[in-house]
Amino acid sequence: MGFYREQVLPHLVDRTCGTSGLRRWRATVTEGLTGRVVEIGFGSGLNVDFYPPDVEVVLAVEPAAVARKLADKRVSRSGVAVEHIGLDGQSIPLDDDSCDGALSTFTLCTIPDAPQALAELRRVMRPGARFHFLEHGLAPDPGVAAWQRRLEPWQRRLADGCHLTREPEVLVREAGFTIERVEQRYAKGPKPWSWFSAGIATNPQ
Ligand SMILES: C[S@@+](CC[C@H](N)C(=O)[O-])C[C@H]1O[C@@H](n2cnc3c(N)ncnc32)[C@H](O)[C@@H]1O
Repeated sequence: MGFYREQVLPHLVDRTCGTSGLRRWRATVTEGLTGRVVEIGFGSGLNVDFYPPDVEVVLAVEPAAVARKLADKRVSRSGVAVEHIGLDGQSIPLDDDSCDGALSTFTLCTIPDAPQALAELRRVMRPGARFHFLEHGLAPDPGVAAWQRRLEPWQRRLADGCHLTREPEVLVREAGFTIERVEQRYAKGPKPWSWFSAGIATNPQ
């Protein structure tokens, strides 16, 4: 799985997560970000086109070298300042209270210990800072959820540990964030992959 995971998968993710249908979701979820923003699972930089001008710097956390390379062109074209500061969202090499905001898109499904990554985000975010998230997860319809449970072992094998049955909104709330708003609905595409949660949560004072 080494060659597939390290060399092929980042290209597949770049294609499947880079569709025009997802651009609208990315534009919405990045609205209002400002200052120093930590992004976990930066991937191939598919959010850089949407960061508002008030973002001073994006502190990117991404383990896949090929994804970081794919991001380079996008980043230089965008004019957004991006610093690759770490490889693992479960252990972010930033000081406490040092970020004004945070972003995760389609990453809480994949990080092995999502509660640990969210605890790390809370640690590095200043009190009052906002966490913007866009994630897929467990659908409310029993028929779709049953398919998600059936497909999950394959999904995890083929997509670097990606889960179909995590509940991002629950994870964010249980991490101690205050959910300000969340939109949950099916996006375009096959339903097991398309139940999206897009929201903003505050790191309490
Ligand atoms: C489905 S991709 C999403 C990429 C990007 N956020 C997007 O929206 O296109 C999941 C990303 O999480 C990254 N990832 C996996 N384990 C991680 C970890 N422990 N910490 C941070 N990122 C991780 C993967 O390398 C991959 O780039």
